[in-house]
Amino acid sequence: MTMLFNYSALSSRPLHLHHTMKGLTGKTALITGASSGIGQAIAIRLAEEGCNIAINYRSNAEEAEDTEAIAMQQACGQVEQCGMQSLLIKGDVSKEQDILNMMNTVVDKFGSLDILVNNAGIQIEKPSHEVPTDDFDRVIGTNLRGAYLCAREAIKCWVEHQHPGVIINISSVHEIIPRPSYISYSISKGGMGNLTRTLALEYAKQGIRVNAIAPGATITPINQAWTDDPEQKAIVESHIPMGRAGNSEEMAAAVAFLVSDEATYITGQTLYIDGGLTLYADFQEPWSA
Ligand code: NAI
Repeated sequence: MTMLFNYSALSSRPLHLHHTMKGLTGKTALITGASSGIGQAIAIRLAEEGCNIAINYRSNAEEAEDTEAIAMQQACGQVEQCGMQSLLIKGDVSKEQDILNMMNTVVDKFGSLDILVNNAGIQIEKPSHEVPTDDFDRVIGTNLRGAYLCAREAIKCWVEHQHPGVIINISSVHEIIPRPSYISYSISKGGMGNLTRTLALEYAKQGIRVNAIAPGATITPINQAWTDDPEQKAIVESHIPMGRAGNSEEMAAAVAFLVSDEATYITGQTLYIDGGLTLYADFQEPWSA
């Protein structure tokens, strides 16, 4: 199911509130899993930067519609006047056919795709020796295989049309920090590091850039277990050198930079956005005199 939300009929003159990053006006961005959390914030921020946004969601159409409404409101202000368009696309990134349909839909509607953000992700907690194979496959299939298949289809399109684009993978601090009891998540995010670097190297000559951001503990629905419980939240934050969890907007700001023309020489990198979580917090104070 797709819906096209189009304010361009009202005015051809874009009106942007933020518009701080170079080269994003009129670009088209597809964000997977964009109906909540970090993906939602990225969709909103890229709309504010003047991008057309394709909002992929797995099942929650209402949340996706909210994302679209907020993005357009933020991007266009009170008066619904701006040049960009948005599109809602239902699809499960663990299903190849859904990805093919999603890519076709975006290119059909917007004429091209410029930015792919691989954000969709899930996690399942279980001791590693007890993980059902289906759970393992579900996490890898969404977080890693899904990201690769989306990247493959985007790159295919860019190479074919000699129209390079940019990919951002939403990795995690668990790209490098092991995560006991989340083996499939750990493997998926570790894999995302090499997905990023391998594609960046392979397609650098074609002008395609591939980078990742690695969020630390971020206030989003995936973390409801501790974000809604002050005691649990305090425990999490006690491990973070900066003393607080991050928020989705802080992740989206880095994505806006990396996909923009401010970052034209950056490729193959994972940017850790974690309040210092990857800095070996245990060493913040000297262990001995
Ligand atoms: P979230 O649960 O709000 O967002 C994940 C989104 O992915 C949801 O909208 C969900 O519906 C969607 N999704 C799940 N499976 C899908 C599928 N098969 N097809 C399409 N969409 C699917 O949580 P959050 O935190 O915004 O997560 C976004 C990304 O950020 C994930 O990749 C996650 O691993 C990553 N991340 C989050 C951190 C955090 O502390 N919140 C830390 C590090 C990484």
